[in-house]
Amino acid sequence: DWSKTLAEKKLLISAGGTAEPLDPVRYLTNRSSGKMGIAIAHVAALLGMDVHLIRTESTLSLPVLPQIKQSVVQSAVELNQKMLAHEAEADVIIMAAAVSDYRIATPSDQKMKKTKEANGHLTLDLIENPDILAGLPKDNHYVVGFAAETQHVLEYAQDKRKRKGVNLIVANDVSQKEVGFGSDENAVYLVSETGHRLVEQQSKIKIAAAILNEVAQQLDN
Ligand code: PMT
Repeated sequence: DWSKTLAEKKLLISAGGTAEPLDPVRYLTNRSSGKMGIAIAHVAALLGMDVHLIRTESTLSLPVLPQIKQSVVQSAVELNQKMLAHEAEADVIIMAAAVSDYRIATPSDQKMKKTKEANGHLTLDLIENPDILAGLPKDNHYVVGFAAETQHVLEYAQDKRKRKGVNLIVANDVSQKEVGFGSDENAVYLVSETGHRLVEQQSKIKIAAAILNEVAQQLDN
C-alpha cells in the first residue's frame, strides 16, 4: 500500500513563482500560480505526510489546509535560504516553484524614476541566482525537481535530472495552453534513472497523486 510508505514522512515542498525586485514597487516574475505545488502539498497532507510548504507571495490567494506548515518568500535568494534552513528535516523534497534564473544586480532602495538620458531605452543589469535544486544536499532524502520545457521535453528533462543530481524529474510541456502554468490541469512525464512514464492530462490534484505514488514506489524499492 503506497500511501503507508508516505504516511508520517516529512515533505518539504516549494510552490509559486519567485519575484525579483527592481525597486520597492516593481519586480520581475513568471507565470507560475502555485497550483501544482499546492496540489501536491494537499494530497501529501491527506496521505498523512507532515508537510512544510514554502510558497511565494504570488500564491497567497490560494487556500491551504490548516495542517500544512507554511513559509512565505518572494525572491529566489529567500527561497534558497528557506529550503536550506529546512532540508535536513525532510524525507522528501519537491521543487515545484518556478525560480527566476536571474535577479536584478542592484535593486534600487527608492522608486526608480523615468530618465530622458538613454533615448527611451533602459538596460537592466541581471546576475545569476543560485540553482536551488542543484545546491540541495541529496544524501538523506528523496529529491524531486520539475522541468518546464517548451520543446524536446523528455531529452531536456533527463539531462536536467542528471545535471541537478535528483531522483525524479516531473517534466511538463509549458508551450501548451491547457496545461502547465496557471491552468487547473497538467500532463507530465515522470523521468527517473530507470526510464520515463507519461501521466496524461488531468486535474493537478490527480497529477499530484501520480507524482506521490511514483515517489512511494521508488522509496519502496
Ligand atoms: O504553479 P502553476 O501555475 O501550477 O504551474 C506549475 C509549473 C508549470 C510552474 C510547475 O509544474 C513547474 O514546471 N515548475 C518548475 C518551473 C521551473 O522553474 O522549471 P525549470 O525547468 O526552470 O527548473 C527546473 C527545476 O530546477 C525546478 O524544479 C525548479 O524549481 C528548479 N530551479 C530552477 C532554477 C533555479 N535557479 N533554482 C531551482 O531550484
